Amino acid sequence: MEVFRIRGGRKLEGAVTASGSKNAALPLFAASLLSSEESILENVPDLSDIRFMAEILLEMGAEVEKTGPTTWKINPSQIVPCAPYELVRKMRASVCLLGPLVGRLGKAEIPMPGGCVIGNRPIDLHIRAMQRMGAEVELKAGVVQVNAENLRGNSIFMGGRHGSTVTGTANAIMAAVLAPGKTTIDSAACEPEITDLCAMLRNMGANIEGIGSHMIEIEGVESLRGCRHRVIPDRIEAATYALAAAITGGEVCVRGGRLDHLGAFVNVMNACGVRIDAQSENEISVKTNEDGLRSLEAITLPYPGFPTDLQAQTCALACKAKGLSILTERVYPSRFMPVPELLRMGAEISLEGASSIIRGGTPLTGAPVMASDLRASAALILAGLAAEGETWVQRIYHLDRGYDAFEKKLQGLGAEVERLPESEMPSAFGAQLS
Ligand code: EPZ
Repeated sequence: MEVFRIRGGRKLEGAVTASGSKNAALPLFAASLLSSEESILENVPDLSDIRFMAEILLEMGAEVEKTGPTTWKINPSQIVPCAPYELVRKMRASVCLLGPLVGRLGKAEIPMPGGCVIGNRPIDLHIRAMQRMGAEVELKAGVVQVNAENLRGNSIFMGGRHGSTVTGTANAIMAAVLAPGKTTIDSAACEPEITDLCAMLRNMGANIEGIGSHMIEIEGVESLRGCRHRVIPDRIEAATYALAAAITGGEVCVRGGRLDHLGAFVNVMNACGVRIDAQSENEISVKTNEDGLRSLEAITLPYPGFPTDLQAQTCALACKAKGLSILTERVYPSRFMPVPELLRMGAEISLEGASSIIRGGTPLTGAPVMASDLRASAALILAGLAAEGETWVQRIYHLDRGYDAFEKKLQGLGAEVERLPESEMPSAFGAQLS
């Protein structure tokens, strides 16, 4: 396994480019299955989750080829409606194969997505959407079996206890675009990744209205053609670099950062003393006010609310902000995995139900820490950038799921961060942790 060694204390300066969006690209790979013709996806990030999804499509009979550093070609002319358990169980996002398989083939067999450290990841809303369109759904030996010979359009309500569901909305849309008749999806997720999916489907010939809203209307069509589609930039990656600039007191431009993709995050940053301005439609500048960071409050909600995928990284920032900050999770109430590791770095954080209360201002000190999931690993790296001394972040395979060339991009901004084999960790640390 590999580790990151970070020497903190450097202000990040300069420009960085966000790669294509992981959470847009994964459903777009699935959407390509809706046509028997070849599709080309551009600006695809180089991530382990993307390689996983490509492997799954290959196992299902599609021809999948990486034809350039960020370009993939998918020819789904011959596919079977079942996905391999060994791969699906490792990646929750593979659940969005349900919609296209049901839409194009009238059936699907997808293993239930595996557990996840960030919290409960049910798919009841996905299943209800399929059933509303006439599908029969059974769970047998951990496999979701869907039969929908007579799929037809219908009204669907996608709202759940925690608001709308992103991949659930993606599945409903992808099943409906080929279902005869009209489908309305009420309380649809309207994350930019859903908007990007609808843009690709329209490009393939789908009839979709209400894109970007909570009410999507679809008229089913006979078939869809292949297309060429460019993935939107990764807003969570872009915001993570904004947080890296803020936590080190630096000044950074993020190409691919879009104010209209960041929703409430921008307001929370401005309120705590981090200026985020648009340099163009596709670039933001980030600078911390002279008088430093003020304490912050944020509640995570579906888009355009504060993104749950930025909560862990913002918790690291709050450790630097004088005073008490409060972060409340309304999407995944137990998504606080980095907290114990931040405490090892000297942070003062307490957890109260679905909220973390951070007493900021005490300096962070470098330490050996353990990543537990994708966004928690980013949070620990940000903390290491701001900490005095050396931080060793272990299990960075979590990071490689969703951040493309993270250490290289941080180095480009002046950070002292290196990717090393775990054996390079000082034995003293290793002894403490074994
Ligand atoms: C997407 O996951 C993202 N993943 C997640 O990003 C992100 O955290 C999440 O949306 C919320 O924004 C991808 O897009 C691949 P959900 P998704 O279904 O769609 C409840 C990352 O770090 N729910 O929107 O799988 C569920 O319990 C990842 O990049 C139901 O109740 O998440 C949760 O509270 C992590 N029933 C909420 O909705 C359902 O059938 C959001 O879940 C489905 C969901």
